[in-house]
Amino acid sequence: MDYEKNIKEALSKVLGKKEEILLEKPKNLEFGDYAFPCFSLAGTYKKNPSQIALEISEKLNKTKIKGVSKINPAGPYINFIVNKENLTNEIISEIFSKKTKIVSKNKKSKEKVMIEFSQANTHKAFHVGHIRGTSMGESLARIMENQGIAVIRANYQGDTGMHVAKWLWCYLKYHKKEKLKNDESWIANIYVDAVKKLAGDETGELQKEVNEINLKLESKKDKKLNELWKKTRLISLQALEKIYKELNTKFNVYFFENQVEKEGKDIAKMLVTKNIAKIDDKATIIDLKEQGLGVWILLRGDGSVLYSAKDLVLAMKKFEKYKVDKSIYVVADEQKLHFQQLFKTLELMKFKDIKKCKHLEFGLVRLPEGKMSSRTGDNILYSNFKKEIVEYAKEEIKKRDSKIGEKELEKRAIVIAIAAIKYSMLKQDPQKVIVFDKEESLNFEGNTGPYLLYSYARASSIIKKAKIKINLKIKLEKLEDKEINLIKKLGEFKEVTEQAYKNLDPSTIANYSFELSQSFNEFYHFYPVLTAEDKIKQQRLAIVEAFRTVLKQSLGLLGIDVLEEM
Ligand code: ARG
Repeated sequence: MDYEKNIKEALSKVLGKKEEILLEKPKNLEFGDYAFPCFSLAGTYKKNPSQIALEISEKLNKTKIKGVSKINPAGPYINFIVNKENLTNEIISEIFSKKTKIVSKNKKSKEKVMIEFSQANTHKAFHVGHIRGTSMGESLARIMENQGIAVIRANYQGDTGMHVAKWLWCYLKYHKKEKLKNDESWIANIYVDAVKKLAGDETGELQKEVNEINLKLESKKDKKLNELWKKTRLISLQALEKIYKELNTKFNVYFFENQVEKEGKDIAKMLVTKNIAKIDDKATIIDLKEQGLGVWILLRGDGSVLYSAKDLVLAMKKFEKYKVDKSIYVVADEQKLHFQQLFKTLELMKFKDIKKCKHLEFGLVRLPEGKMSSRTGDNILYSNFKKEIVEYAKEEIKKRDSKIGEKELEKRAIVIAIAAIKYSMLKQDPQKVIVFDKEESLNFEGNTGPYLLYSYARASSIIKKAKIKINLKIKLEKLEDKEINLIKKLGEFKEVTEQAYKNLDPSTIANYSFELSQSFNEFYHFYPVLTAEDKIKQQRLAIVEAFRTVLKQSLGLLGIDVLEEM
């Protein structure tokens, strides 16, 4: 039943349909399920709001509002109390009837959206910032899919360009005796070494060598160099795939920078003939100073192509090939200017789909200085980072369960570690800079991934111990306050998923998951389930099962797996 609509209709009848009706949802049940504040009517009625509340309540009480059992004036508010038996039964049966997925029914749209995210480069480390971007992209994809949207998950990996040239140069010059290793950290370390060597390059001689390699790499004419690039590129890509698997992500489409290099050059040249770009000191640039966006360089003086020009090609490719209705780039806010320049240039080119492109920025991830194995987040490897969190998770698990077997420990620790990492990043406002704190994110009692998993596992364990079939068609009666609270919270799930979609913000789902788990733990704390008398036990078990169902889906939208036992 749409209680809100019924109340609004009744109010607008009494008020003569003029004002827009805004209802509040009091957090405290005592104040009813919906409240109508009368402040704004004071002007029209020339009376104080409390008086207005009294008079309107009287009028409302003369007719019945469907689903509403009480209408109470309270100071300047009118509180509406809905029929709890109706409400709770509706919520529970809705949850059980769509056990597998709660998709908003009205939104089976045919909309097709491409979300480009993660975009880790080959020949470099996958760092903590990549974890945030990857978790966000995956969660957004799930949130949209839940709204019935067809999502294409796209990755755009930097497998060529200056950073790759640096790697190849460093390998050939300083590490050639080493055999190529199928090892993420070996690859990443050579890049770090390249950066170090180039930092000491006072005459610029070394950079010249790198530039030469970059040109050769781009022309793809040097067979030996090409071979080395191919092999090392593959090693990198394979390492990245392993990471994606651990992070519960799969891509539908892979774009690579090397595929848009040539066209990038062509576009840059074309833009010169159209007077959008110009040659300046041999380089090809677009002057966007008038628009407050500085100068955007497309080609270097030696003709090699930059990240910028490649993105022009990519933007168009996405629409040409995949006919998407929207193209979202989940990229760190460090690149804000880049995307402004990109979109402005596309606009100048009269690219027809520019309005459908969106840069969704996310903030930096920092690691607390001295607390983790790397001083800065920049070069810390995913694998090392993960190992450290997994080890810590193991200690925490053993504190609670000293007899746990090694295999089970390993399995649980990885799920908990990934949940801790992802949740600590997703619960934050996407634009906020975050400091990842290992201890905090793995605290089993705070607003953390482990706390949520623990709540879920607790519910599972209750169900398991009950050893009876849960009655999914149960009719709930005579509920206690905290039971009603929990069920009402369960009933908010759909709205929360819509909100998360509207704002493209997974933190809405994260915070909801936390509040939901809190309501559950409160319920569990106050009322016995397994030891209650039979009828109440059945009823409470159904509530526990409904909680499990919704929390699992809610965490699923964050890309977080649950554990049945913890
Ligand atoms: N690989 C790039 C980097 O590491 C990010 C790519 C973002 N996407 C894009 N279309 N420019 O900075």
